[in-house]
Amino acid sequence: MTFNPLAERGIPLERQLRNWRELNVDPIDPDTADPYTRCRIIALNGIEVEAVFFGHHFNRVCPDQEIRRQLSYTRYVEAQQQRVVNWLLPGVSSALETTIAYEQVAVDLTAWVARMEPDPYLQQAYEFGVLEDFDHLYRYANLFEMIERRKAEKIVDGLTEVMPGRPTRFHHRHPYDNVRDPYDKDSTAPLSKLHALTIMAAEQQTMNFYMNVGPQYMEPIARQLYQEIGLIEEEHVTHYETLVDPGETWWERLLVHEYNECYMYYSFLTQESDPRVKAVWELHLNMELEHLHQAAEWFRRHDGRDPAEVCAPELPQPVRFEPNKEYLRHLLATQIDLTTLGAGYVRDAHERFEKLQEQIHGGEEPPSEQVIELHRERFGDDDYRIETEGPHPVESLRQTTGAGRRS
Ligand SMILES: [Fe+2]
Ligand SMILES: [Fe+2]
Ligand SMILES: [Fe+2]
Ligand SMILES: [Fe+2]
Repeated sequence: MTFNPLAERGIPLERQLRNWRELNVDPIDPDTADPYTRCRIIALNGIEVEAVFFGHHFNRVCPDQEIRRQLSYTRYVEAQQQRVVNWLLPGVSSALETTIAYEQVAVDLTAWVARMEPDPYLQQAYEFGVLEDFDHLYRYANLFEMIERRKAEKIVDGLTEVMPGRPTRFHHRHPYDNVRDPYDKDSTAPLSKLHALTIMAAEQQTMNFYMNVGPQYMEPIARQLYQEIGLIEEEHVTHYETLVDPGETWWERLLVHEYNECYMYYSFLTQESDPRVKAVWELHLNMELEHLHQAAEWFRRHDGRDPAEVCAPELPQPVRFEPNKEYLRHLLATQIDLTTLGAGYVRDAHERFEKLQEQIHGGEEPPSEQVIELHRERFGDDDYRIETEGPHPVESLRQTTGAGRRS
């Protein structure tokens, strides 16, 4: 089925505001929900948060009062959408449980995007980043068992493996080396623009979340691990946002944002197993179609160009949450020792990398290492892992002691 969001109409803008009753959605049931339903909620929350913040940035540089009023209106609708989407998460989850789900999103969404990305340089950026969030998942899963006495398998449900990725201690790079080269807006595939925006939005939301929940913990190791990984998410936001061509006009950026919202709601609508959640995706898609229509009008009027020059004439293949285990194992086996130098990637540690490592670690073990050591001390030599497809593909990262795998 082909779906061209530029040719569709949705709910008229003036009918998009909701009252308290409509905003007050029932959350999903944490015991019975599909883990990927929770992942879709988190991913779309990231998309809506980006819609709101992008709208605020546009507001701050827009000299036209009439446009600012229209932007303000649509942004308010985006803010309502964000409240509805994020409020689908159940209140009984601890911040750490939600954190593990955030890293599951980062792993399986980034892996999907890497697999589908047509541009090899952009694909490398996703392959590089995914091995780091994969390691974050492992570190937080160990923290989770240690401080809550619960297991991450309840959350990821065997869909995503939990084991070491590129060790978190090596994610701390000089900020200069987090700046990638942007795609060229005039020659890149429309799909590549959507990918970059989606992963940037997901990482940005993860960064915000860790910045805010980290200090709510009492346990020193939890506070420290959130601080460490929160700083790496800052690097990840830089890594992904610098892929976007800074030469796009504000009208063009708005158009791509709205198109991407249509794409993401449509994608998850086609995959959603929970009928109540699916109804939210459908409603929001019908709102986004009109946001897109408005953005397309402005793009025509102010940039004098046809939206079809920028957006795909029909939606690309829907984004799916699905296991990416074999793909991730292949990346682990081939790319674990990469770091960045300038806008590119190298296998060897270089001077600027070594210097920053010295500065940030100050001769001590970082929290991401301490959490594993503490776990080993308390749980009889085993770290927490879920290895459903066999031993770790990198021999030096295999479990060496204790009873072995816990899956
Ligand atoms: Fe939205
Ligand atoms: Fe992460
Ligand atoms: Fe990340
Ligand atoms: Fe929108």
